[in-house]
Amino acid sequence: MPRRTCLAIVLAAGEGKRMRSRTPKVLHQVAGRSLLAHVMNAASAAGTSNLAIVVGPDHGAVSADARKYAPKVQIFEQLERRGTAHAVLSARRAIARGADDILVIFGDTPLVRAETLSKLRGALREGAAVAVLGFKPANPRGYGRLVMRGRELVAIREERDATPEERKIGLCNGGLMALAGKQALAILTRIGNANANGEYYLTDAVAIARDMGLKAVAIETSEDDVRGINTKVQLAEAEAVLQQRLRMAALKAGVTMIAPETVYLSADTKFGKDVTIEPNVVFGPGVTVDDGATIRSFSHLEGAHVGRGARVGPFARLRPGADLGKDVHIGNFVEVKEAKFEAGAKANHLAYIGDARVGEGANVGAGTITCNYDGVAKHRTDIGKGAFIGSNTALVAPVKIGDGAYIGTGTVVTKDVPAGALALARAKQTVKEGWAKRLRQVKALGKNLTEKKAKKS
Ligand code: UD1
Ligand code: CA
Repeated sequence: MPRRTCLAIVLAAGEGKRMRSRTPKVLHQVAGRSLLAHVMNAASAAGTSNLAIVVGPDHGAVSADARKYAPKVQIFEQLERRGTAHAVLSARRAIARGADDILVIFGDTPLVRAETLSKLRGALREGAAVAVLGFKPANPRGYGRLVMRGRELVAIREERDATPEERKIGLCNGGLMALAGKQALAILTRIGNANANGEYYLTDAVAIARDMGLKAVAIETSEDDVRGINTKVQLAEAEAVLQQRLRMAALKAGVTMIAPETVYLSADTKFGKDVTIEPNVVFGPGVTVDDGATIRSFSHLEGAHVGRGARVGPFARLRPGADLGKDVHIGNFVEVKEAKFEAGAKANHLAYIGDARVGEGANVGAGTITCNYDGVAKHRTDIGKGAFIGSNTALVAPVKIGDGAYIGTGTVVTKDVPAGALALARAKQTVKEGWAKRLRQVKALGKNLTEKKAKKS
């Protein structure tokens, strides 16, 4: 049987006023990526061959984010918010091109899983023209109700239009829907706006399909799958659900986490085998940790690669472009940005290494700073294999330290240092014998005199 083609239409024209934010709703993030990106990922993972999104006016940022994740996404504008069916029809050109399955997904429902979308597609494969996701929320208020007759879905009633009897139904509409591509336009164009809101409701597709002699079904899923985000409270709740999913997946894949509930992960965090993560570690987007590495407590990583057997933290910060080779050690209060540490290199305490290469086995002493920014531009520091950088060294970039070179403690390095050389730049020390002792004697003498004066008066 040939593979069925699938068009996913992501609705993202809502303003999201209740987020009380200047950021468009679908661009808020959970687990290090936008709500929109989560939805687009789930759609791709469910085998979508074509992706379209429907955006509102002033959509620049939303479109840019969508293109970042799917360069070929088709973007359609819905100028006026006239309902979910109207929004879907904004992507009419994409629908008209023809696909076996059409998935309609809300941009603010980031927890929907690919397997749930696949189930909707499965219902179409088995002959339904419309398949919707049903769920039983603790509190059904505000949701459309699924009116069932036996195993068949008869209609979806929006709460505003429902009778008191219908409002008692516990099975609600999760919002996401699959439509058979062949009938989709015929169904959608029949939807009218004769309801309490005067909007074109996608949910009317069910009753219309039945009128046309087609089949509609509901597929029940968990509340988490269809959790919609309207407020910052719901955003935080979704984050908690997602973090729990990511932690469980990491544990199941063999990562050791002593206190998983304190570890923050991103949707794209990647772990090798035998990785250990101590409590209170944050993984921002774009982190890969290879086999056998350990990330110690209170470390913050983002856009970084941690090589095999490397040790990071406690209290380390890896910023974007940090690339640690095999067995590298990055210790407490060390910040690394856009810098490559080659195998076995170490920076164990209190350092800033940015825009740099640290050669194999080199040792960076406590308090070493790469002075990479001159107020206008960034410059690079190159530290050779096996070099030894003494404590409290300032490396004024651009600068090169040759293989095996030594830098004396406290040096401000402004010129390249050849391989095997020693560079030392510090003021000469002077020692004045007995000086401190004499100072104390003079001070004691002065104190005695003032005390005597005070007694006399
Ligand atoms: C919708 C369903 C309801 C279901 C609920 C689940 C309809 C008519 N109702 O209601 O049955 O229980 O979801 O959460 O579908 N959008 C646009 N353009 C529009 C209108 C909406 O792009 O003109 C987008 C919104 O940005 C949002 C999605 O469509 O992502 C859903 O719209 P929303 O207004 O939130 O629908 P609900 O009232 O929640
Ligand atoms: Ca909603």
